[in-house]
Amino acid sequence: MAILRTEGLSKIYGSKGNVTYTALEHIDLQVEAGEFVGIMGPSGSGKTTLLNLLATIDKPTSGTIEIGGTNPARLGEREIALFRRRQLGFVFQDFNLLDTLSIQENIILPLVLEGTAPKEIERKLRPIAEMLGIAGILSKRVYEVSGGQKQRAAIARAIIHQPSLLLADELTGNLDSKSAKDVMEALADLNGRLGATVLMVTHDPFSASYCKRVLFIKDGRMYSEIRRGANRQTFFQHILDALSVLGGNFDDVPFARA
Ligand SMILES: Nc1ncnc2c1ncn2[C@@H]1O[C@H](COP(=O)(O)OP(=O)(O)OP(=O)(O)O)[C@@H](O)[C@H]1O
Ligand SMILES: [Mg+2]
Repeated sequence: MAILRTEGLSKIYGSKGNVTYTALEHIDLQVEAGEFVGIMGPSGSGKTTLLNLLATIDKPTSGTIEIGGTNPARLGEREIALFRRRQLGFVFQDFNLLDTLSIQENIILPLVLEGTAPKEIERKLRPIAEMLGIAGILSKRVYEVSGGQKQRAAIARAIIHQPSLLLADELTGNLDSKSAKDVMEALADLNGRLGATVLMVTHDPFSASYCKRVLFIKDGRMYSEIRRGANRQTFFQHILDALSVLGGNFDDVPFARA
């Protein structure tokens, strides 16, 4: 079953003024339930634009989006806020945790906002915190934990309400390589064990090698797609090869890691 489907999705910025810029052109994308998909492409290729459209933060110029059978463009403002809160989970590069709260308070916030009973919250929190390896730091404040722990807490918060789709933009962008590895292993584990559907944008071929499928976009268009076999290291090499064919600005790519 397709969780996400886009048809002819395009985004033209500044279409009201006389200077326009086509950031995305006719993107047809399908993500099945339980998939773990990466999106890569040179700087300026339209990755964040695509994610913002899927996240219903921005509206497409043309084309359609369907998430869990719903076209968010057909929803009113109140419905769209609920749709976003219930159907989607977000993870950002800079964690977006609330510093004055504990790790646990941050994670359970979406359930508290929904009015979920404390017992039910506890029942949902435990297994996720354990899977992400943060069960031991739940009572700590945000400033007392590492970047990798913060990001795993952010993933827990994004997934605790069991969204149809988890969207992530450069989630390892602010992490050292050890923390990035911890975060990607945890995410791959969530995908494998809970069947969470994940779509993540990344510059980092190492992080992308944890995905099961990677899509490459260039100049706002779908360029190519590769699928992972059994071996992550081999997939990492394939991703590097695909990036060199793609060209563009990948100066910051850590080619040494595997
Ligand atoms: N609000 C906006 N108004 C006008 N142009 C924009 C706007 N947002 C993005 N763009 C342009 O659209 C193109 C795609 O931008 P986008 O942020 O989607 O790229 P990206 O692939 O996420 O790049 P990066 O890897 O650097 O994050 C760029 O040329 C950018 O300058
Ligand atoms: Mg971006």
